[in-house]
Amino acid sequence: MIMQKTYYIQTFGCQMNERDTEVLAGMLKKMGYQKSDDLQKSDIILFNTCCVREKAENKVLSYLGELKELKSKNPDLIIGVCGCMVQQKGMSDIIRKSAPHVELLFGTHNIHELPDLVENILASRNPQVSVWDSEGEIKENLPSERQLSFKSLVNITYGCNNFCTYCIVPYVRGRERSRSPEHIIEEINNMAAAGVIEVMLLGQNVNSYGKDFGDQTDFADLLKMVNEIEGLRRIRYMTSHPRDFSDKLISTIAKSTKVCGHFHLPVQAGSNEILKKMNRGYTRESYLELIKKIRDKHTDAVITTDIIVGFPGETEEDFLETLNLVEEVRFDGAFTFIYSTRTGTPAAKYKEQVSLEIKKERIQRLNNRINLISHEINEQYMNKIVDVLVEGESKTNSQMLSGKTNGNKTVIFPGDISYVGKIVPVIITEPQTWILKGKMQEI
Ligand code: SAH
Ligand code: SF4
Ligand code: F3S
Repeated sequence: MIMQKTYYIQTFGCQMNERDTEVLAGMLKKMGYQKSDDLQKSDIILFNTCCVREKAENKVLSYLGELKELKSKNPDLIIGVCGCMVQQKGMSDIIRKSAPHVELLFGTHNIHELPDLVENILASRNPQVSVWDSEGEIKENLPSERQLSFKSLVNITYGCNNFCTYCIVPYVRGRERSRSPEHIIEEINNMAAAGVIEVMLLGQNVNSYGKDFGDQTDFADLLKMVNEIEGLRRIRYMTSHPRDFSDKLISTIAKSTKVCGHFHLPVQAGSNEILKKMNRGYTRESYLELIKKIRDKHTDAVITTDIIVGFPGETEEDFLETLNLVEEVRFDGAFTFIYSTRTGTPAAKYKEQVSLEIKKERIQRLNNRINLISHEINEQYMNKIVDVLVEGESKTNSQMLSGKTNGNKTVIFPGDISYVGKIVPVIITEPQTWILKGKMQEI
């Protein structure tokens, strides 16, 4: 009997990487490899990495160290590293030196090369390092192994042209490129026909969709087209940049029946001085104006954000402006980050770096404030009935199901897995800071 060969992929970072992992998995499946949940027993181990903050990179490096022993026990094992970390200049050499048991390295622009690189290793046993300097054409119709049958990630743009001064993404994901509406609609049509009811449209800055086409097609137009697709129930998008969130987009979302009322608008900082140094392209005032416009048209909008503390030169006064903005907007939730110096970005060279001690103290104060507000907002869900798309068992309690509201709030409630993939009404009985607990209503 021939044993089927297996692969194990560990994904770090954002949904871009999650989506790339589905394509990597699709290609490996086509080569005859089967997915394995056991790293110890796999024939190929791939790490799809992130480098947005130092912490993400350190995690990968330490995991790689742990694989050395496995490789010495099983010389046929192929250990590969790909994704944003590898795309950085010089990083493939650093990885090869610090972890010579890694024999396969490729970047973000050439994931389609995976089958060839694996074949080369199998044939020659020579390490394969292939990192492209620039993005090539968008590759359509690559095989893909979707994680879920009812909810899917769909790329609409690749890369980023914004060059926020702290951010490494434009350097590792290349220039902004939009996929044609035809390819996007065809992909979603096919998935909807196969039972997918929710899509997440992906881009580093979705609202600059279409700027590279030379015609008038923009993100709002794309949303209108996706809204028409039969069978689809929910449309989400990630991430939208506050600078380009047009009035047309706000009214298109208000008119659409399927686009969710969740607005994730990363503000990063509350001080104009810092926003300018970050090259964000909006002011505190214009951000607040945008939030007001959204709330005028969407009375029950769920608004979330990303915030960085300790950007170079951030004074206590600047930080207080961030706290004050949080009070003023009252975000439903926020991802907060300690500024992490990324080599090659402009901000890495800025003087007046903030000490780690101050950064830690600020993020603590910020989180305390955000959590309190989240809790207060969630309290208003008490005894309300919300529609929940059931995603699976709760991670902490297998007797419970976990799902998402239209506004992307996590709801936990008792139920069996036959409801996974369905939208069910749930009455909220116990609102908490990060989750809402409830009971399913009769359907
Ligand atoms: N394209 C998205 C964000 C991608 S990165 C956008 O512009 O909104 C996700 C988040 O990571 C960012 O919003 C930012 O808050 C954070 N981030 C990016 N670079 C960082 C750095 N060097 N240090 C700390 N946080 C960072
Ligand atoms: Fe990074 Fe800014 Fe681009 Fe987002 S918009 S990926 S934060 S450079
Ligand atoms: Fe990380 Fe790359 Fe995404 S750096 S956040 S995985 S685009």
